[in-house]
Amino acid sequence: MAYNLLKGKKGIIFGALNEQSIAWKVAQRAVQEGAEIVLSNAPIALRMGELNKLAEECNAPVIGADVTNNDDLNNLFTKTMEHFGGGVDFVLHSIGMSVNVRKGLPYYENNYDFTHKGFDISALSLHRVLQTAMKMDAINEWGSVVALTYIAAQRVFPDYNDMADNKAVLESIARNFGYFYGTKKKVRVNTVSQSPTRTTAGSGVKGFDGFINYAEKMSPLGNADAAQCADYCVSLFSDLTRMVTMQNLFHDGGFSYTGVTKEIIEQMEK
Ligand SMILES: NC(=O)c1ccc[n+]([C@@H]2O[C@H](COP(=O)([O-])OP(=O)(O)OC[C@H]3O[C@@H](n4cnc5c(N)ncnc54)[C@H](O)[C@@H]3O)[C@@H](O)[C@H]2O)c1
Repeated sequence: MAYNLLKGKKGIIFGALNEQSIAWKVAQRAVQEGAEIVLSNAPIALRMGELNKLAEECNAPVIGADVTNNDDLNNLFTKTMEHFGGGVDFVLHSIGMSVNVRKGLPYYENNYDFTHKGFDISALSLHRVLQTAMKMDAINEWGSVVALTYIAAQRVFPDYNDMADNKAVLESIARNFGYFYGTKKKVRVNTVSQSPTRTTAGSGVKGFDGFINYAEKMSPLGNADAAQCADYCVSLFSDLTRMVTMQNLFHDGGFSYTGVTKEIIEQMEK
């Protein structure tokens, strides 16, 4: 069901790679709610071509940007502002990648060149996006920025590897930049901590099947899926959440506050 929650709003969605991507669902949901969007992803992801399908469906231009590159981000915001004839009201940061995870190097054997690259893409990129936007005054007053994160920022999930550190910094950047952008322009910045979700990035984590099943059994409501995450992001882009900022918001069916469930206890007793 659509409620016109984003009628008249304009936004940039980073990170839609394929139909499984959380950003893909957010893009569809935002447009359903009346928003106009620009889609962005790394040049290498654009070459895969899938994003064109979404662009057509959402009637949205695609503007490539490697989020580790300042010139790319400058170009993205310049072209987006030309396209809309002004600033945007919301930004989704749905980006993550760890070379250590990809190469199967455990946390205690990380290669620091890989660590730097993953940090630049997964965490520092939020700072770059916000700094570029602020310099160019590209986000309108009462705008909303949401970045996706995972509970490994607070607790140990051994195979989440250096992404745990990246997410901890990402959440910290949301808080700190949220302070400055809030005082300067009433722009809010939050992170949404999502349940494990079957996507390209998610499935790259070792032991993902065990991981997602465990979370399902440990969450009173079960795992939140990508479409439900999109609903939540849309509510955060809307005017209904104008006073929410600098928060890490769990969207996980109750997983984060559950000590143990009966299902898990029964399984342990077998
Ligand atoms: N899938 C999960 O279980 C899960 C759970 C919690 C949080 N998240 C987070 O959600 C976000 C989206 O991930 P997803 O699960 O939809 O997977 P995904 O693989 O579909 O999305 C990751 C995106 O990051 C983009 N990206 C990588 N390097 C980039 C670069 N240099 N410049 C620009 N974009 C780049 C990829 O092209 C891709 O579109 C990530 O931040 C991820 O950590 C995922």
